[in-house]
Amino acid sequence: MQRQYAFFILLLSILISCKPTMSQMSSIDDKVDQLLQKMTLEEKIGQMNQYSSFYDITGPAPKDGSAKTRYDQVKSGQVGSMLNVLGTEQIRKLQQIAVEESRLGIPLIFGYDVIHGYKTLTPIPLAETASWDLEAIEMSARNAAKEAAAAGINWTFAPMVDISRDARWGRVMEGAGEDTYLGCRVAEARVRGFQGDDLNSTSSIAATAKHFAGYGFAESGKDYNTADVGLSTLYNVILPPFKAAMDAGVRTFMNSFNELNGIPATGDVFLQRDILKGEWGFDGFVVSDWGSITEMQDHGYAANGREASKLAAIAGSDMDMESSLYVEHLKDLVESGDVDETLINDAARRILKVKYELGLFDDPYKYCDASREKSIIGNDEMLAGSLEMALKSIVLLKNENGVLPLAKSGKNIAVIGQLANDKNSPLGNWRGHVDANTAISVLEGLQSHSTNTYTYEQGVKLFDGEESFIRHINVNTTDDSGIDEAVAAAKGSDVVIMVLGEHGYMSGEGRSRANINLPGFQQELLERVHSVNENIILVLMNGRPLALDWADKNINTIVEAWHLGSRSGDAIAQVLFGDYNPSGKLPVTFPRDVNQVPLYYNYKNTGRPGPIEMVFWSHYSDQSNDPLYPFGYGLSYTTFEYSNLNVAESSDGLRVSVTLSNTGKYTGEEVVQCYIRDKFASVTRPVKELKGFKKLGLEAGESQEVVINLSKADLSFYNNQGKLIFEPGEFEIMVGGNSADVLVETIEMK
Ligand code: NOJ
Repeated sequence: MQRQYAFFILLLSILISCKPTMSQMSSIDDKVDQLLQKMTLEEKIGQMNQYSSFYDITGPAPKDGSAKTRYDQVKSGQVGSMLNVLGTEQIRKLQQIAVEESRLGIPLIFGYDVIHGYKTLTPIPLAETASWDLEAIEMSARNAAKEAAAAGINWTFAPMVDISRDARWGRVMEGAGEDTYLGCRVAEARVRGFQGDDLNSTSSIAATAKHFAGYGFAESGKDYNTADVGLSTLYNVILPPFKAAMDAGVRTFMNSFNELNGIPATGDVFLQRDILKGEWGFDGFVVSDWGSITEMQDHGYAANGREASKLAAIAGSDMDMESSLYVEHLKDLVESGDVDETLINDAARRILKVKYELGLFDDPYKYCDASREKSIIGNDEMLAGSLEMALKSIVLLKNENGVLPLAKSGKNIAVIGQLANDKNSPLGNWRGHVDANTAISVLEGLQSHSTNTYTYEQGVKLFDGEESFIRHINVNTTDDSGIDEAVAAAKGSDVVIMVLGEHGYMSGEGRSRANINLPGFQQELLERVHSVNENIILVLMNGRPLALDWADKNINTIVEAWHLGSRSGDAIAQVLFGDYNPSGKLPVTFPRDVNQVPLYYNYKNTGRPGPIEMVFWSHYSDQSNDPLYPFGYGLSYTTFEYSNLNVAESSDGLRVSVTLSNTGKYTGEEVVQCYIRDKFASVTRPVKELKGFKKLGLEAGESQEVVINLSKADLSFYNNQGKLIFEPGEFEIMVGGNSADVLVETIEMK
């Protein structure tokens, strides 16, 4: 008995003396709580501070005067995260300082803009959305995560889920286009792709839903501009993709440069505390946009940096990206009682939690395996994924007289346009860490997939000089001397392939355009070539809708190829030769003219929808109300017909069925789209709203019944108090291959 007692005492004392390691503690929340208890106020504030790369282990470090201070700040636990530090070697070095030289050894989290690939680029997000293929989009984000994670990155600032209706806004390229329903599905797919099934895996990285909120509604499409939107638009159009991303498990949000209804988003309590962290219960963290805390002074909202810090912290901006204001002011703000310390605890807790979830506490170097970096980056899986996504992203806009698909041999083809021979531009903007000039050009693609004879002529230079992320592309508006040679080449050829549009750096952040025509002398080039040879295939490269009225009227064959990434030329060639039958559909409306903008399919009817004979209806006297190409539009080499639309009530809403028939000569894929119109509601509803879609393939001559189920939630809308409500009454249910061309059934819902 006595010996048993002694043994028990011994066991107890062993247990007490062995402090449990962090990984032995029960849950992440407990671990975070225990860590927080050990942290000083400065260290907690340090977690809320994020700097951009300043430490270059392979070159002279530090690079500038402030770098030394910043390096010391990592050591003293005043930095929680770094962005733009790339590669396992550099990330390991910096992590070592945080983990081995700071008092508590808290690992840094390394973020980067992995928007459509890290080293191997996939199509720009707008283009990927044109695939309407959620599995492919998820795969593409997964590959991007694998590559970035292999290079040491733990966190991407993507997906951008901002809805935008304005083709002038340069960042249209970075999102999923104009539609909220499609935007929600794509947001979920991208979050799943980046984060995988297990955030703790070495191939998963944390994702960010950005920019919260209203950034895509910048007035006049000018980047960073004021957004002034009504509650109905905010709740029904802007917020749902953020909520969808959250429900898919996104671990971070980024707030936004813009003000929304008079309050800079970064300092907006309503957005971040009331909606995001309150009503939605988001338990990850919010990072500011680059310097957006300090920019609240320019907005005229905060009188100085101290006040900006206070407003941002109170509003729920957990991490300060690159304005240094939190480290400068938060301690004093807490000590003076201006900011409650519980807010600091809450922010630090959220950030630490995500670091635990990523497994950074268990192994801070888990992303820093140089051999994995070598074997994954640019490997065959990445390149194959990029090609698959590029093929799916191409949209066939016109194919009159069936010029496409093209024969692979025996043709004499003139290839015209600087973009046809460009290996850089197809990489698009927000191009991660890709090496310049590594895309397959259109010319290379054509040559490697066929034996036709090709004569290349640049025609006019689209641009010259620097191709830079931070400066505007210098569009050539003075020298049109190459047009004659292009015309001569076109004259004697069987077919002319013209590759026109925008350089990859003409869309993206800070690249708003007041004019969305073909830039430079390209329109003139197109018209002159057309005057000698009408057999033109126009291949477009662009990051936003372009106004192509003349081209649509005069050119028989038009292919929308966006900026497709590393395998661009391969994908374009495979589509032109019919190795792949195009199946993309536009995720944005293409206007006829920039003056129609904002032009989108889900507009409100107004009290005077017209048309009537008199002038008193909602229209222009000098331009049509109709777009050039509607949302959801895109052709195939085969043709599809819709029949037998049937709408029946189901236990939770509606069962919508339609017969889809492939009436053409080729096997092809179609995106069956289902729209609704809630005819009368307590807050007016748009004339059409996408509520479901299915992409499927059919062989020539084959028919299939396609069923889309709509739930009551799909038939509901947000009222101006932000409540999702269903109102019984008359609904139109529309199904078709684009938003303008649909079969319609009306049903009364109780
Ligand atoms: C500013 C952009 O608005 C944001 O989207 C991006 O993630 C940050 N810069 C970091 O590069």
